[in-house]
Amino acid sequence: TQIAAIHAPGLENIIVAETTLSHVDGQKGELILRGKAIDDIAGKQSFEEAVCHLWQGLLLPSQTNLTPAFGTARLKAFQAVEQLAPLAKELSVIDWMRLGLDSLTIDEDERTNAVELTAALAVFLTSARRLKQGQTPITPDPEAGFSKDLLFMLHGSEPDKEAIDAMDRYLVTILDHGLNASTFTARVVASTLSDMRSCLSAAIGALKGPLHGGAPGPVLDMIEDIGEPKKADRWIEQELNAGNRLMGFGHRVYRVRDPRADVLKEGLKSLTHLTDRIEKAQAIEQAALKALKRHKPDRVLDTNVEFYTAVLLDAIGFDRTLFTPLFAVGRSAGWAAHVIEQQSAGKLIRPQSRYIGPSI
Ligand code: SDX
Repeated sequence: TQIAAIHAPGLENIIVAETTLSHVDGQKGELILRGKAIDDIAGKQSFEEAVCHLWQGLLLPSQTNLTPAFGTARLKAFQAVEQLAPLAKELSVIDWMRLGLDSLTIDEDERTNAVELTAALAVFLTSARRLKQGQTPITPDPEAGFSKDLLFMLHGSEPDKEAIDAMDRYLVTILDHGLNASTFTARVVASTLSDMRSCLSAAIGALKGPLHGGAPGPVLDMIEDIGEPKKADRWIEQELNAGNRLMGFGHRVYRVRDPRADVLKEGLKSLTHLTDRIEKAQAIEQAALKALKRHKPDRVLDTNVEFYTAVLLDAIGFDRTLFTPLFAVGRSAGWAAHVIEQQSAGKLIRPQSRYIGPSI
């Protein structure tokens, strides 16, 4: 029997799985995580609380309070840092993080691995950064909250409440987002019944790309290249005329503004010492939106999550080379949930291709 084949480049608008984890409504501009709108969670829950919300039904009974579980896991991961230290200068932070994952002993229970791998990524990110700067990695504090310890392991000083709140807000905002390229990658690997660590390592590989998780660094480059808002129109015009894309804008699913852009922008309000930088970013955003409307009148290209990610993370002292690695830390908890969901319910993911090569 002839099977009806659908040819959808990039699998645009093709549903390949059912999930109870998150829903991205591109028409309404809504993101729902297990029945809660993103602005009901980000800015209101810590990273651990949001992960508990996302993982409900997937967690082990012992994991309901994730703060100590993540803390113990950070300390365990830290034991791997010393032996990997010599390679930190050669590898990018995100590749060193993957090396760190591969050095961990994995548990037979994938839910235990989920906790340990997310915690480990935070340790490997901060240790890699410090080693690259010739500084010694800082031992995690298992008692501390996830965001507080991440900032402490990075900077070596007690973070203030604004920074901790901004870190939580960011990690929660990017926690999960339907079947984006890196989550789909994790599910493809999980569908072969491979292990959690291989799924997360593959997902990190997908996230690195500039069309996906690699966008926020170039957003900051753009803002700094433009400098003064009055130069924005000309700079942007040149970029678009050269056929380049503006990083931080457009989305495969959202046909309106990405709701996460304003959730992150809201988090900037408490960083009052940076008002002029935030106003400059907003002016550049407006210039970009105007230009995109002029250049692509038939396509809604609005601000996506990455524009204000760049402004927020820069504001709390993260170097742009850490933006994608940080995205991996937060999203790894989303990837892990999808892996467990795929392993328990999914089929082997194996689409077709249309052969247009030479015939025999
Ligand atoms: C993330 O999927 C997710 O959920 C991802 C994510 C998540 O949480 O996991 O939300 C995170 O990846 C956000 C997106 C970060 N990437 C960027 O900011 C990079 C810049 N944006 C794009 O390159 C683009 O918008 C994509 C890749 C995000 C989506 O592109 P699509 O859906 O594949 O659309 P397309 O490439 O077919 O573009 C359609 C048209 C094209 O024009 P034509 O060639 O038809 O004339 O719109 C243009 C594109 O050139 N276009 C842009 C543009 N994005 C699309 N033009 C200028 N600047 C842009 N940013």
